[in-house]
This record gives sequence, structure tokens and C-alpha cells, in this order.
Amino acid sequence: MAFLNLEAAYKHGIIHNVEEQTIVSLEKRLDQEYSSLDFLNLNYMSELEKKIETASQIQERYKNMLVLGIGGSALGAKALQKAFFPFQDLPNYKGKSLYILDNINPKLMQAYLEKLNPQDTVVVVISKSGSTIETISQYFLAKKWLKDNLPAEYKEHMWIITDPVKGFLRNEVEKYGFFSFDVPPNLGGRFSVLSAVGLVPLNFLGLNWKELVKGAKSVANFGSLASHPAFLLAKWAFNLMQVKTELIFFNYLVGWDFLGDWFAQLWAESLGKDNKGSMPIPAVGVRDQHSLLQMFMQGQNNKGCLFLKFRKISSNIVLDFDLPKQWDFLQGKGLAEIFQAECLGTLMALSSRMPLVEIELEGPTELEAGKIIMLLEFATLLTGWLLQINPLNQPGVEKSKRLAKAKLGAKGFENENKELESFLSKKRSAKIYEF
Ligand code: PA5
Repeated sequence: MAFLNLEAAYKHGIIHNVEEQTIVSLEKRLDQEYSSLDFLNLNYMSELEKKIETASQIQERYKNMLVLGIGGSALGAKALQKAFFPFQDLPNYKGKSLYILDNINPKLMQAYLEKLNPQDTVVVVISKSGSTIETISQYFLAKKWLKDNLPAEYKEHMWIITDPVKGFLRNEVEKYGFFSFDVPPNLGGRFSVLSAVGLVPLNFLGLNWKELVKGAKSVANFGSLASHPAFLLAKWAFNLMQVKTELIFFNYLVGWDFLGDWFAQLWAESLGKDNKGSMPIPAVGVRDQHSLLQMFMQGQNNKGCLFLKFRKISSNIVLDFDLPKQWDFLQGKGLAEIFQAECLGTLMALSSRMPLVEIELEGPTELEAGKIIMLLEFATLLTGWLLQINPLNQPGVEKSKRLAKAKLGAKGFENENKELESFLSKKRSAKIYEF
């Protein structure tokens, strides 16, 4: 049984405060908006299931899947890939391989296109908007690579996951007849891991994604909002933000190291608006005990912590042989016991210093992964509502995108062109120090 422990949550000056009236209005809002909250109602799931069955048959012939996508179109799949298929990175790995290229590193893109055999590869382009410049550029490169190498059949090697009607990629699907999946119109990138965006790549690897969905549904299915863990977490995070500016996501879910990257995007893009929100700081146990922990324990006292752990770690490797005298207390114990002891030590140390919510999952299963994903997504939405901001948009990322497009010569960016001209022509040499 997974649980949320608020024992150490309201210490260190955090007020336990959300008025009854606010809860009533959140409940009302949830009721009104539920049918448009696709990440929560998962209404698209039965249709998606059928489509994934078709994909399962087609993908038999491929050894590799190359995913091109960024932000919410990559981070969820990447987190679960690393959690459930770590062996992919081991020497002599023989199974199917998933490669998620979520940045535009020219060297890496080139290496993939040189090293992958196009005949054995399906390229999956994921973009909800169908117009993200980074992903579209990668799409052009991959399409050319496939077309040059497999002129007669390249279209079969390209799948697209995008909006059902809008955007450049949807037009490409119509033009070329690529196999495609819909991202439901109301499902934003960072809330989309349990749609085709995450499930198609994970199904390729053989993840039991139905369990993932089952876990998510068990959290999304609730009676009273006031006692739902997502609301309790949101209420705490909201109160925390009144006094602390940073939120540590200390992740002792052994092997699930990339979950923090997924969470950081979810939290930052959803809540960083109107000068509100808290800065997510992903940390990985035990590794970051030897990196960030010093700052957490004795640096600025401006943090709270979400602390995640498993009740039990299922695998172990035991030191069941003679050890030098000074280390003999380890004899018969394994890396799992050491990991859990470090986890407990850090949990206790952090909760003596800052407000902390402990989330315990039963173990490293798909079911538990589904639960934590839904819990964190739902809590993020509710925190946004408590903050009175829109957690589902991300207007703050537009400016840099528009400036980059103007710099690249795209049409229709007159204001940005002026800004660029003034920025680039400034005589800044007096403040430039060479090294
Ligand atoms: O969460 C979001 O909406 C964003 O992070 C997007 O996922 C990201 O910008 C990529 O967008 P798209 O899927 O439209 O290419």
C-alpha cells in the first residue's frame, strides 16, 4: 500500500491553512471541468488501447525505436524507460532498444543516423503542437535519412504522435500517410505520459503499461477531495510556498532516477506564473547525499522537501563473504540494506531541518509508477488552482522561442527583429572579460 506521510510536513513554520470555502469551490470546479481534464479522466484510453494493439503487431519487425521529441513529449517516457529497462544500457544487450533524443545535439543526432540501421528502425516523432522547431528539424533530418536509405518503404518507418487535427505534423501525416496516434486536444505535454506520448515507446520495450494505467486510475478514482492525497499534497505545497521558495524532490525510488526530471518540468512549467510557485530541485538518493545534501542541510533555509521511497527494494546483492574487521558490520548485508539505511538517515536529517512530506511506494512496479504519476499530476493541478494561476499553460516560454525564430529568419517577427537588432548591436565590449 502506497502512502503519503504528513507527520513532518507542517513543522518549521508551515501553517496548515486552506479554508473550507476554498475546498468547496475547488470541488465545484473539479466537477465542472472534469470532462476536459483528460489526464485525470483518461477518457481516451479505450481507443488508444486498440491503436497500441495495432502498433504491437507492426513493431515486431523493428529492433530499434528512435523517438524525437522534447519536454513533455519525452521526459515521461524517458523516466519510465530508465526505471524499467536499465539493462538497455548494458554491454551485449540483445533486446529491442529505445533511443529518446530529447535535445538537438548535432553530434548525437549524426551519430544515431550513422549507427542505426534504417531497415531495423522506426522513427517516432512526438509533438503535441506539431510545430516545435527542435522536433520538426529532427523530423526533417530523419525523414531524409529514411528516404535516402529506404526510398520505396520509408513511410512505413515513420510514426507520428500529435494533435488529431491541428499542426504541421498532422498535415504531414495526411500528406504522406504515416501511421499516427492522436494526443487528445486537452492533454498538455507534461501531463501526457499516460497517452500515446509515453505508452507507444514503452509498449515497444514491452512495459506492462496496462498496470501503469491501472495504478493511475486507482488514484484518479476518488470520493471526497478534502481527504484525497493529491489535495493534501497540494494544500501543503501551497502553504509551503508562502514561506519557502524551493521544493526538493528527493528521490530514493532506487533506479527511478529520472523521475525527478519529469517532475521538475511538471512543477516548473505548471506553477511558475505571476511571480508564484516554488523552484523544484530534483535530487537522487543516495548519490546526491554526496553532492547537494550539504546545501540542503546548512545552506539557505528556504526549502521544503518531497521525499520518495520504496517500502521494500526487491533486488539485492549481498556481501556474504569475509570482510576486514572494521567493516564486518556489513557482512551478510547487501546494497539494498545500505541504500535503505542511507535513505532513513537522510529522511530523518532532512525532516529535522525542513518541512517534509514522505511518499512511500510499495515497490518498483508499474502499478506504483502509475499511482505516483497520477498523484503528482493531480497535485500539481490543484496547487495551481489554489495559487489562482492556470497550471495548464506555459506562456513564459514563448518569448525565447519567438526570438530564436526571428534570429533564424522566420517571417512575421518584426518586433523580435527589432529587439534582436538592439540587443546584438549594443556596445558591450567594456564589460567583456576574456579568459
Ligand atoms: O508541457 C508542455 O506542454 C511542454 O513542455 C511541451 O511538452 C514541449 O514544449 C514540447 O511541445 P510539443 O509536444 O508541442 O512539441
